[in-house]
Amino acid sequence: MLVCIPQVLDAGQLVSVRARLDRANAWVDGRVTAGYQGAPVKFNHQIDERSEVAVECQRIVVGALETNPLFISAVLPNTIYPPMFNRYGEGMKFGPHVDGSVRINPHTGSKLRTDVSATLFLTNPSEYDGGELEIEDTYGRHTVKLNAGDMVVYPATSLHQVTPITRGVRTACFFWVQSLIRDETQRAVLHQMDDAIQRLNQTNADEIARRSLIGCYHNMVRIWSET
Ligand code: NI
Repeated sequence: MLVCIPQVLDAGQLVSVRARLDRANAWVDGRVTAGYQGAPVKFNHQIDERSEVAVECQRIVVGALETNPLFISAVLPNTIYPPMFNRYGEGMKFGPHVDGSVRINPHTGSKLRTDVSATLFLTNPSEYDGGELEIEDTYGRHTVKLNAGDMVVYPATSLHQVTPITRGVRTACFFWVQSLIRDETQRAVLHQMDDAIQRLNQTNADEIARRSLIGCYHNMVRIWSET
């Protein structure tokens, strides 16, 4: 399940993150954090994830995520990896790969299983050509290129790539989440159910039935979740 989440960052947060990244001198070769599969196909720059600018931007993004109802419903986060920031100039790309299954938090040293991958776009599509995020799943290939501030989340099991940039610069934030719900099909069912409940809550639907559905949702989370 691929979910686009609009306006994760508001205009003020976006300006704040972009200004910090634009004046940062902590940009390094993206291959420093790539595994043996990713390194040969990864051509971009990213912010040193332990730098002060990274920590400041991580705080802004995580703060926004923690209060985003659609993100919480779609991902059911257990642990969020400290968000990272990358930049692709002309000719840069990230060829087809699957993200590594386990990451080590650079601040705490704790391990995180990557259930969900996320890309939060920080530049608008008008600012660059190419640079599409292409994600393959059992329903085929999806091309994603969102407005600045918008985010896509998708199963970390997916093969994906960033196509070559042919004009301009593409800046993005990316990270992984260990979900309370490990299985992506179960996660998708819960998101669909929560969405239906939220819609029913906007109507005059029978209150006892709605309460029962909400109970079922929480009981399913209880059965399936791991912490
Ligand atoms: Ni990736």
